[in-house]
Amino acid sequence: MTSDTVTITDNRSGESIELPIIEGTDGYPTIDIRALHRLLGFYTYDPGFMSTASCASAITFTDGEKGILRYRGYPIEQLAEHSSFLETAYLLIHGELPTSEQFGLFREEIMVEYNRLHEALQSFFDGFREDAHPMAILVGAVGALSSFYPDATNVHDPAVRMKAAKRLISKMPTIAAWSYKYATGQPIMYPRTDLDYTENFLYMMFAVPTDEFEINPLHVKALDLILMLHADHEQNASTSTVRLTGSSDANPFAAIAAGIASLWGPVHGGANEAVIRMLQEMSESGDIDSYIARAKDPHDRFRLVGFGHRIYKSYDPRAAIIRKTCHQLLEDLGATHTPLFDTALKLEEIALKDEYFIERKLYPNVDFYSGIILRAIGIPLEMYTVIFALARTVGWTCHWNEMMEDPESRIGRPRQLYVGYRKRDYVPIEQRGAQPAAEEGGR
Ligand code: SDX
Repeated sequence: MTSDTVTITDNRSGESIELPIIEGTDGYPTIDIRALHRLLGFYTYDPGFMSTASCASAITFTDGEKGILRYRGYPIEQLAEHSSFLETAYLLIHGELPTSEQFGLFREEIMVEYNRLHEALQSFFDGFREDAHPMAILVGAVGALSSFYPDATNVHDPAVRMKAAKRLISKMPTIAAWSYKYATGQPIMYPRTDLDYTENFLYMMFAVPTDEFEINPLHVKALDLILMLHADHEQNASTSTVRLTGSSDANPFAAIAAGIASLWGPVHGGANEAVIRMLQEMSESGDIDSYIARAKDPHDRFRLVGFGHRIYKSYDPRAAIIRKTCHQLLEDLGATHTPLFDTALKLEEIALKDEYFIERKLYPNVDFYSGIILRAIGIPLEMYTVIFALARTVGWTCHWNEMMEDPESRIGRPRQLYVGYRKRDYVPIEQRGAQPAAEEGGR
């Protein structure tokens, strides 16, 4: 037996095999189970992938017990203090912080070379009802981009992949802003090359052709931080969706559209919008305790949105950064006592003292406070998850690229634990009576 293996024994037959241990550069070691089925005739069973590493990745590291988040090794707290969303995007894509020359070229690509949208895409928006949720428009528009860039289907060419990634990062703000403008009936604003990434997005969102638009630097700083904190988070549901979609050699626009669809769910990226709706209800009712009681009731599906996390069993480091920024921004904007922020602080205080939440290590996550900042800078509620998708496009494209470059990457095709009927024979309709009780082994 060598020290870098684990022994798996089938106690029914006494048969044992040794499986290799694979250590990463940080975090928990893994057991390489690829030979398990061939050598011992087993699959592993892990709904929700609680203990399963789907890939090797060098992009983002998290430690849920210690509340650590690092992009390419840099602690999120340091990036939040010193970097910008666009510089962080460069870091995630290329793996290193850029020199000023590299950053200048990257900015030119994102803000000038790739930022235009084909005029035909505008008519695409007209196909939606005026009350369509912007996430529905985003899923459709991003998927449709594949029809404008047929060259992007050559997914095994690294240059084609990098171009597709930069096109997506560059065009998402315009598509997002236009989906908002379409919903409000306002004229769209074209991207400006003289503005930075986040400024340009706010300009396209809120400027109108008839008036001068003054960009509030406090809003830019707060939104840029929100985008940076949401840029990547290793193998979350939407990123895993992008990887699985891309593993069939699907084009990058289809893969990212699948990621947007997954992010939309209220237990994932849709939580930031759901948190504000929950806080609004709590604030109006003034009865936080009944919501806490419902969240703890095993027979009630209601959960405290913005609380809990698959990885963080301590305070989500992003929530801590956003919470601090909330205080500062609201103070700077002279809105220190927004009822929602007061309710959020009170809810957090009550929950963190409650045995139910302590026992399950449920803390505020990135979505708990982010909506309060977005609200303070005037972003409409239905755009919150769109903002999340805008930011996570960086992470999604990085993981898609990393997967396509990984020699060990294969089409994703999980197996299953079959619990349905065993073999049974067809019964002609004239011989069918009332359904027989389910056989032993059938569900
Ligand atoms: C994001 O994965 C990522 O990295 C995601 C993300 C990213 O950047 O990509 O960080 C972004 O999606 C953040 C999460 C946003 N979602 C929410 O805020 C929705 C509310 N949270 C829960 O739905 C839940 O906490 C999840 C989905 C976030 C995590 O679910 P898990 O890991 O499957 O945890 P679980 O359902 O197994 O819960 C364990 C226990 C259960 O109780 P018991 O069955 O043990 O009695 O904790 C309870 C749960 O009922 N629980 C909650 C709760 N979250 C978990 N109870 C009340 N309120 C909650 N919010």
